[in-house]
Amino acid sequence: MLIDTHAHLDSPKFDSDREETIARARQAGIEAIVNIGFNRDTIPTTMELAERYPFIYAAVGWHPTDAIDMKLEEDLAWIERLCAHPKVVAIGEIGLDYYWDTSPKDVQQTVFREQIRLAKRLKKPIVIHNRDAHEDVVRLLREEGAAEVGGIMHCFSGSWEIARQCLDLNFYISFGGPVTFKNARVPKEVLAKVPNDRLLIETDAPYLAPHPHRGKRNESAFVTLVAEAAAEIKGISVDEIGKITTQNSRDCLGVPR
Ligand code: NI
Repeated sequence: MLIDTHAHLDSPKFDSDREETIARARQAGIEAIVNIGFNRDTIPTTMELAERYPFIYAAVGWHPTDAIDMKLEEDLAWIERLCAHPKVVAIGEIGLDYYWDTSPKDVQQTVFREQIRLAKRLKKPIVIHNRDAHEDVVRLLREEGAAEVGGIMHCFSGSWEIARQCLDLNFYISFGGPVTFKNARVPKEVLAKVPNDRLLIETDAPYLAPHPHRGKRNESAFVTLVAEAAAEIKGISVDEIGKITTQNSRDCLGVPR
């Protein structure tokens, strides 16, 4: 019993074997997958997957690296319309990315703020992408009152200090492939400290494949490897991690049983 709270199974990387990949996830005991549509191309393909498979849910939002391409008013209205769809469980992934820097910081921040405001209006949780922007992400979440809706810090890579602030802001902390890497000291330490009732797991497939698939294509079935690593770090059984993170996913996203 596991839920992959973050995947991109609509990615062209799955074009040759998407159905088999999804079937493997089911065989591995994955009972729900949240697919993330994050720009003009991937929002429609995410909705197609969510409509086709009963156990696939959707999050839709505008990614910070694509912020420059957003037609703010028009695309916010599009996201708002999609949020009325019964399979759309969150707005995301949204946030800040200072690593790629493909969109100017001020544009990223405006797009992020507007989507937090939309989420509050629609009472939807948000899925946060944060790369090399820890302080600004936390500051904007605080300034915009994001605690009112909460959500998920996706593939969290920050320090415990940042994690603690995100927990205070009503967010769940989600871990992916990197916690399975031998040299990943900080994510392991942070995972150990995150309270069980705020812990989530994910793949971010096709990216960030866990050990021993590191560097190769990731898929939702591999969330079992993240669960095993989390269980070892927490000193509890994989079964227990499954129960805890599945319940948390349901609490956070309202994914039905
Ligand atoms: Ni993602």
